[in-house]
Amino acid sequence: MDERQRILQLRKELHDHNYKYYVLNQPEITDQQFDFMMHELQDLEARHPELADPNSPTQRVGSDLGHDFQQVAHKYPMLSLANTYNEQDVAEWYDSVKRGLGGEDFEVCCEMKYDGLSISLTYVDGKLMRGVTRGDGVHGDDVTDNVKTIRCIPLVLPGTGYPHEFEIRGEILMPWKVFERLNEEREKAEEPLFANPRNAASGTLKSQSSALVASRQLDAYLYYLLGEELPADGHYENLMEASRWGFKISQGMKKVKTLEEIYEYIRYWDAERKNLPVATDGIVLKVNSLRQQRILGYTAKSPRWAIAYKYKAERACTKLNEVTFQVGRTGAVTPVANMDPVQLAGTTVKRATLNNEDFIRSLDLHIGDYVYVEKGGEIIPKIVGVDIDQRPIIAQPVRFITHCPECGTRLVRYEGEAAWYCPNDAGCPPQIKGRIEHFISRKAMNIDSIGPETVDDFYRQGLVHNVADLYTINVQQINGDGSRQKSAMKIINGIEASKQVPFERVVFALGIRFVGETSGKLIARHFKNIDALKDATLEQLLEIDGIGEVMAKSIMTYFHNEQNLEIVERLRSYGLQMALSEEQTAQASDRLKGKSIVISGVFQHHSRDEYKLMIEQHGGKNVGSISGKTSFILAGDNMGPSKLQKAEKLGIQIVSEDDFLNMIEE
Ligand code: IVH
Repeated sequence: MDERQRILQLRKELHDHNYKYYVLNQPEITDQQFDFMMHELQDLEARHPELADPNSPTQRVGSDLGHDFQQVAHKYPMLSLANTYNEQDVAEWYDSVKRGLGGEDFEVCCEMKYDGLSISLTYVDGKLMRGVTRGDGVHGDDVTDNVKTIRCIPLVLPGTGYPHEFEIRGEILMPWKVFERLNEEREKAEEPLFANPRNAASGTLKSQSSALVASRQLDAYLYYLLGEELPADGHYENLMEASRWGFKISQGMKKVKTLEEIYEYIRYWDAERKNLPVATDGIVLKVNSLRQQRILGYTAKSPRWAIAYKYKAERACTKLNEVTFQVGRTGAVTPVANMDPVQLAGTTVKRATLNNEDFIRSLDLHIGDYVYVEKGGEIIPKIVGVDIDQRPIIAQPVRFITHCPECGTRLVRYEGEAAWYCPNDAGCPPQIKGRIEHFISRKAMNIDSIGPETVDDFYRQGLVHNVADLYTINVQQINGDGSRQKSAMKIINGIEASKQVPFERVVFALGIRFVGETSGKLIARHFKNIDALKDATLEQLLEIDGIGEVMAKSIMTYFHNEQNLEIVERLRSYGLQMALSEEQTAQASDRLKGKSIVISGVFQHHSRDEYKLMIEQHGGKNVGSISGKTSFILAGDNMGPSKLQKAEKLGIQIVSEDDFLNMIEE
């Protein structure tokens, strides 16, 4: 057999074993045998780049090449379902269906309502072509590379008989077990915990690194088939067919006819769903016949032929013993309720967040109160009420602290904000450590040789008090007793390498309040170097599209603080990038000089940010809203109707993506 044939054979066999393991749950070979074949295929593919295939099983391991997700339009919009919470509502829906069908008989397909994030998968000739998130229902993010790492989603269908082209929708989930393990790891690393498996799955799927997605072991259940040439008129029958093509479909689907059968299904799964490996929050009821679905049609937001029944969040009652206070990296103080341990939705609960002072007041919370705790899809429980009848006579109301529990400074509350803050940002330990952790984080300076524990060590040893101190540490200081030579070298090299991190990320890394990753970029590109940014006036800051008053003021405050200025000067002296690179500032042309350009719609060739940059590099200015001064609108697909109207009224030219690219390339 030649190498080409061997590659094809290995791909086929690996797809097949993957299906048996992840969809059917019936592996035929050991993990080692699987890995062995995978390695052989990887080696062969590396030797034959001409035989590359985007749907090869090797693509499941992902890569960490970051990519901004392209926005794409859904072929069929992704609607949501109307929610119901009791049997009465279900009965009303059932009657409305009966009326809508003029009394015709109908069947209802009952299925689980998965609590993850919805995904739309497109297959052409049995190959996965695209995976798109729900987005706003009309456009979503193209996350194909990340979706490919989810093992139960077939890249090439193992079965036969599927239509030439179809779409299948379902839910991507992080199984409970994986979620718990992930949060345990994050707790150890002192990283913020995910509130629930849905947030964890969503954060994972939108990650820029498909290798990270691959490592998180997401799962998927598919529950809706769409296309021009579907096998049957029944929703249930179509999904059964899809299961034969190789998909993992919604579990426990059942076709019923009467209301009583629907109630029975709901009651059965209320208890039984706790044994499922993934989170569910209700039941979905769908009229089974597609013909009848068409008769019933849609309201503006959701189909009339389907409805969701949501289970009540679980609730428990327990005693509040104490309220403690935590200080975060921004200095915000969060009150935490400490309670007698109580069993709730499968876990023991003894702590709950109390959000802020107003929340405590609204509950009129007293120490010793019996409180109701709920865990709706959230893993962090909430206190939702107090049983006043059980309040001890001498109970004292919960009082918010007046001074920081970490450094003793008097707390302040800024106008319009719910939180109390410790204003001692330069001297309060969790704030100092938090700022350093932010500075070294992946999206900032990316010094991944240092973790939160190391930051803590360095701080306690007195090696670092602020981010500039990182650059003065030497190997001997870390390597104290001489046993940590290797890791010390790694840390120093990581710190050294960060000196090459581009200016726009340095701006983000400084940790100026409210300045996120994207605004950091906008600010850096606008001012081009730290000196211009340092001296910026409020007016100049507000000129930037996307920077509001709160952020602008916070930037001013940061650069009016002597300590911050000293840190910035020190960072500059250590060699950090304090200006855009020549490449970034180089003016490509002045073809757009003096032009004010509005960007609108969804684009095929480049992201919005890229277009913004192009406009600047050709001497133009990107502005947010259309006015008489707008020179033209760079319009992608689906430009908003109100913008279109305004442009027409003011007689402003609309330039397509291709024309724009020609315009600057000529
Ligand atoms: S069908 C037009 N089936 O619930 C109806 N959706 O509120 C298309 N969901 O965005 C959806 N389990 O993310 C359907 N078995 C199920 C579902 C389900 C969960 C989610 C889905 C959708 C949301 C609707």
